[in-house]
Amino acid sequence: MPHDFMPGLAGVPAARSTISDVNGETGVLEYRGIRIEELTAKSTFLETAYLLLFNCLPTRLELEKFTGDVALHRRIKFKIVDMIKSLPEQGHPMDALQAAVAALGMFYPGRTVQDPENNYWSAVRLIAKLPTIVAAFARIRRGDEYVAPRDDFEFSENFLYMLSERRPDPIVCQIFDACLILHAEHTMNASTFCGLITASTLADPYTVVASAIGALKGPLHGGANEEVLAMLREIGTIQGVRSYLEAKLKAKQPLMGFGHRVYKVKDPRAVILQQLAQKLFTHCGKSPLYALAEETERVALELLSQKRVYPNVDFYSGIVYDAMGIPTDTFTSIFAMARAAGWLAHWLEQMKENKLYRPDQIYEGEHNRSYLPLDQRQ
Ligand code: SDX
Repeated sequence: MPHDFMPGLAGVPAARSTISDVNGETGVLEYRGIRIEELTAKSTFLETAYLLLFNCLPTRLELEKFTGDVALHRRIKFKIVDMIKSLPEQGHPMDALQAAVAALGMFYPGRTVQDPENNYWSAVRLIAKLPTIVAAFARIRRGDEYVAPRDDFEFSENFLYMLSERRPDPIVCQIFDACLILHAEHTMNASTFCGLITASTLADPYTVVASAIGALKGPLHGGANEEVLAMLREIGTIQGVRSYLEAKLKAKQPLMGFGHRVYKVKDPRAVILQQLAQKLFTHCGKSPLYALAEETERVALELLSQKRVYPNVDFYSGIVYDAMGIPTDTFTSIFAMARAAGWLAHWLEQMKENKLYRPDQIYEGEHNRSYLPLDQRQ
């Protein structure tokens, strides 16, 4: 008996997992059972990536080895750099990232997914190289030289260095690293599900991550963070907030950075991102967009709370990245750099007990129609 059709598979379990859990009613997000508030306050992105991948916090030795393995694999082949140089400057960074990640896999043989040792090194390479690719396209497209990674810098420090060619401020590094933790994993979201569908065919992990990048790009998913900045800039002034939002809602257009399939309260990541924003602004000056964002949130809640629509992770993340001088259309690529940890954790979990994804459909078309010769068709 076919199951009932659920648009967007809303509420339909697609896997069993122990990686993360979301309580949409209480606004709780846990990675391997640890609250996201604790991880952003006490952990680092790489340690959190280890937790997600291997279901345990690493010992000192394990963390040193994992950190060292990632640091030594940050470089990308010069042919990938040349490929990035050949891409159109006005192209979207997520397209560049997806193209480069798909090509990356061509350089690494032994991509069969039944070998845990292979899988470890594939995961290390992808986590290590995505930031290098993101920074490379950001610089090359604006006419700057590619800056090679430094293996003596921390993960986030190295990314911000590759982007600016200057050693970044430690406070900014710490805030950026917390942002990566917040974006690392989120149960069965669209890009994770997309990656798992590809993984279920036993495609290699580079292709899996390239698939997930494609899904993340969409404005209803990871692409919302850059759309929020565009919305705030379109609103322009605090006085313009209400009329802008009312016009959007009247036109049945979603407000970017608001709403969520699971959260029916404010996304706990948005709460933490606001705290990170305040910390950043205290350290390096307030963003003019922040007051506008707060007023937008206040008015949106007035207009939407009866639908239980609240700010999600994408609403404040862009303001933080913008204040760090990161180009707006690179925000989603940063989301992808972080979510690679979650995508790969789900991939490793699925490879332990894989089953090809092949859902059903409810056919509503016709049967037994005759083929009509061309000259008889109206
Ligand atoms: C991410 O799944 C994940 O975990 C994703 C993510 C992750 O970490 O991986 O959390 C990251 O993608 C966050 C979401 C980023 N996207 C946006 O900010 C785009 C704007 N958001 C909406 O498009 C929407 O909220 C969705 C797509 C995110 C979720 O929509 P759903 O679950 O399909 O819910 P729905 O569209 O059925 O909404 C229910 C009601 C509707 O009103 P009615 O038709 O019942 O009258 O709420 C309304 C919607 O119109 N609504 C909104 C709204 N979101 C929902 N109305 C205005 N603006 C919005 N943003």
